[in-house]
Parts: sequence; structure tokens; C-alpha cells
Amino acid sequence: MPLPDELQFMANALKPQKTTDARMDGKVCIITGATSGVGYQAAKRLAQAGADIVLVCRNPQKGEAVQQELTETFGVKVSVVLADFTRLNEVRRAANEILDQIPRIDILINNAGVHRTHRTLTEAGFETAFCVNHLAAFLLTRLLLDRIIASAPAQILYVNSEGHRFGGLDLDDLDWAKRRYKGLQGYGAAKTAQLLTIWELNDLLAGTGVTVNAMHPGAVRTQIGMDNGWLYRTYQRFILGPFLQKPEVSGEAIYYLLAAPEMQGVSGKFYNKTNVETPMPHAMNRALGKRVWTVSEELTGLPHLPLKEE
Ligand SMILES: NC(=O)c1ccc[n+]([C@@H]2O[C@H](COP(=O)([O-])OP(=O)(O)OC[C@H]3O[C@@H](n4cnc5c(N)ncnc54)[C@H](OP(=O)(O)O)[C@@H]3O)[C@@H](O)[C@H]2O)c1
Repeated sequence: MPLPDELQFMANALKPQKTTDARMDGKVCIITGATSGVGYQAAKRLAQAGADIVLVCRNPQKGEAVQQELTETFGVKVSVVLADFTRLNEVRRAANEILDQIPRIDILINNAGVHRTHRTLTEAGFETAFCVNHLAAFLLTRLLLDRIIASAPAQILYVNSEGHRFGGLDLDDLDWAKRRYKGLQGYGAAKTAQLLTIWELNDLLAGTGVTVNAMHPGAVRTQIGMDNGWLYRTYQRFILGPFLQKPEVSGEAIYYLLAAPEMQGVSGKFYNKTNVETPMPHAMNRALGKRVWTVSEELTGLPHLPLKEE
């Protein structure tokens, strides 16, 4: 008996993955959070295929180390733009730097993310996971959007998560002041908010030659969550760790979604690595998505970009 839509992700995790040998020579690819884990593997795979890379990262030493490695190994152009995604003014500064220095953007990969087990707030008072995973990516994408459209055909890919299935999004309590914070739900709320805005963005981009998709990179062994307390770190390293895959599979999946000839022009989809999948209904609620879009604009100080049906 086939699994219901909402449980397909379990079967999809075990499905064979698609790969491609297509090249990406000369494509300009901006990727956030490529100093570790999934993003690092994706940047490496793209550089191996000839793409020039712009690393948006918070740690200059780590960024320069990846820059040096990719340049020396693959001979591609790699630049570093600094931004701590807990500070939206730094995201703005990074976007301006990119707009000044990078005339064409073929690909934007929104990958940077965190998982906090406890409620923490940014200096501006945003719950950290919501700010880093959703608000910063929303702001960066919007600030670069005209340049991406002018570069069409172009692609935007969000590294989202099956974690969106945990839910937790409450527009009346985005900073978890009224509820007890639960790490998985906080993470789920941020990923849900992101997915909801992606469907709106997809409608807005119709006819522009820019595609936008989201993906779950697999359950892979990375540094995510390792900035939490010792108990969680021990759990992740010794209990969860043995069941996790190598992050190389995520890099290969991201590469397939961007480079495969059959993926060109495909937009508005969610992938579990390389297999298309249906997200949870709460992450497909278009009325809620329109509210999240507007609230995200308000919180990031962006002007309102009217949605397709407004
Ligand atoms: N690992 C999994 O099983 C899994 C599953 C589903 C989804 N994901 C998603 O995959 C994405 C990448 O995560 P990962 O697993 O590769 O974790 P990771 O190894 O911790 O990498 C996260 C990246 O995000 C960057 N980052 C974190 N906080 C930041 C901030 N405040 N400002 C700027 N950059 C920041 C990190 O920079 P530093 O190197 O400076 O720390 C790092 O480059 C995330 O969106 C995550 O939600 C992962």
C-alpha cells in the first residue's frame, strides 16, 4: 500500500539519487553558509564543475580558507563577502557589496542555517533560528532579486529541511515570548516560514526566466546544532551521528538540482535531495504565506512587493 503524501519523505530518504555530469563553467553562484557541511560540499561540487563562487559567510578565516582551497584546486574565481545573519544590517551590507562587485548572478543558494535547542534572541530581538534561517535569506534574496532577474535564466535554491514538518509557526508569537521554546519546533517554524514565502516568490517570478526551488539536503553529518549545550552535542555526535550520511550526498544533490538539463526551467518545487516531494499542508497554506511575506517585509524593513493576487 502506498504511503500517504505526508509520509513519503521516509520512502524518499531511501530512494536512489539522481546525478548529472553537466558542466557549470563560468556560471556565477552565490552561496551562503559554505564554510561548513552542506554548503561547503555544494560550493566544492559547483567549483569542480567550473562555476565561479561567491561565499557569503560570517567568519573571515573560514571563508578565506574555503576560498583558497577552491581557487587552488579548481582554478575558478572565488570571492568572500562577510555577513553575520543574526544581524540584518550585515545582510544589507553584504547585498550592497555583491551588487557593487558582481554584475551577473546565475545562481543564489540560500543555505546558511542554525538549530538552537534553547530560545535565544538576536540583538534586534528576533528568535535566532527564525532570523538566520528565514529572515536573513528572505532579505538577501529580495535585495538581489532585480540583479538575478536581469541575469536570467537564473536559479534560486533554498536549502530548507524536512524539519518544516515539525511546524511551530505562530505569526502572533514569532519570537516565542508566549510559548515554551522547543528547538525542533523553533527550527520547524523558521523552515515553514521560508517555504511559505517560496511559493509566493515562485508566482512573482513567473515569466522572468528565474526559477526558485527548495530542498531537504538529507540527514547528514555536519556542524549544525553543535553550538548547543554538551548534552545535545553528545546526543548528536554519538546517538544520531552513526545514522547520518556524509554531507557529500547533499552537495551532489544540490548540484543535480541546479545543473541537470532536465531541471532547467523547473520551479516552485520541494525536493528531498533529488526526488520531488509534497511538503506538509501547513507549509503549503497560501493565505498564511501571503501574511508571512508581508510580516517578513515589515521585520526586515523592505518595501512591500505586491504579490500576484493583490
Ligand atoms: N545537516 C542536516 O542533516 C540538515 C538536514 C536538513 C536541513 N539542513 C540545512 O542545511 C543547511 C546547512 O546546514 P549544515 O547541516 O551544513 O550545518 P553547518 O555545518 O552548521 O553549516 C551551517 C552554515 O551556516 C553558517 N551560519 C550559521 N550561523 C550563521 C550566521 N549567524 N551568519 C552567517 N552564517 C551562519 C555556518 O557558518 P560557520 O561555519 O561560521 O559556523 C555554516 O557555514 C541549513 O539550512 C540546515 O537547516 C541540514
